[in-house]
Amino acid sequence: MDLGFGGEVAEFYQRYRRGYPPAVFDALADAFALTPQDTVVDLGCGTGQLTLPIAARVRAVVGVDPEPDMLVLARRAAGERQVGNVSWLLGADTDVPALGALLGGGTVGAVTVGQALHWMDHDALFPRLRPLFRAGGGVAVVTNGTPLWLQDTGWSRALRGVLERWRGVELHRSCGTDDASQRRYRDSLVAAGYDVGATTVDYTAELSLDELVGGVYSVFSVDTLPAPEQRSEFSARIRRALHPETRFREHVRVTVLVGRL
Ligand SMILES: C[S@@+](CC[C@H](N)C(=O)[O-])C[C@H]1O[C@@H](n2cnc3c(N)ncnc32)[C@H](O)[C@@H]1O
Repeated sequence: MDLGFGGEVAEFYQRYRRGYPPAVFDALADAFALTPQDTVVDLGCGTGQLTLPIAARVRAVVGVDPEPDMLVLARRAAGERQVGNVSWLLGADTDVPALGALLGGGTVGAVTVGQALHWMDHDALFPRLRPLFRAGGGVAVVTNGTPLWLQDTGWSRALRGVLERWRGVELHRSCGTDDASQRRYRDSLVAAGYDVGATTVDYTAELSLDELVGGVYSVFSVDTLPAPEQRSEFSARIRRALHPETRFREHVRVTVLVGRL
């Protein structure tokens, strides 16, 4: 399963992808009444943006991802941060039944899916998860803000222009953050028999040009990432298009859509 998240993309992801503010973890803990006895599964864990902070609140976490390079970096970060209660599993949404066989039914407080559901078949996933959960447990679909090039600011529109010219394609996919995707996820949770609720966490962040370019690299796939020798030209184009701004403010809305049993 090669989704293009390997190699340097994983490195850019770990270095530049924004994590989640503490209020998101409070919302998850509240939604599922998580305790230090609980087990959480983080599906599509990437380099551990959700996995590592939530591990501080529960007994054990299983981080699951189909991209080995993401898992290697996540595991290394856990070691550096002395997080000792996460197991890392190479796998995908389709491996949930095997995970259920390992953990046992009715044992999981929450399955989190952080900025990854758009890679999965959510209509198949939500029913498949149900046997895992203890009473009051459930699934949280967490989306981490509108992509950098689709925001309602001058710099974001200018960035989009540069990226579209570079790639030669229109960029409109919002990776599950848009209202229509949220409605589809909600309807799918209801159809699978979950009680559904949602919380949003809003904050403002400021990025340097390097952080902006790094954030863009983290969403390229391995085969579309500018080659190392093209990167100074790539960031020069962005710098010229966004001139004279050198700091970029973004409004980030994190949505936590929860389905509880
Ligand atoms: C955009 S990253 C999100 C990483 C992290 N959860 C976060 O919140 O930033 C998407 C991750 O989903 C993983 N992924 C893609 N398809 C998947 C699937 N079918 N099942 C599980 N994970 C998948 C990718 O390998 C990648 O690490």
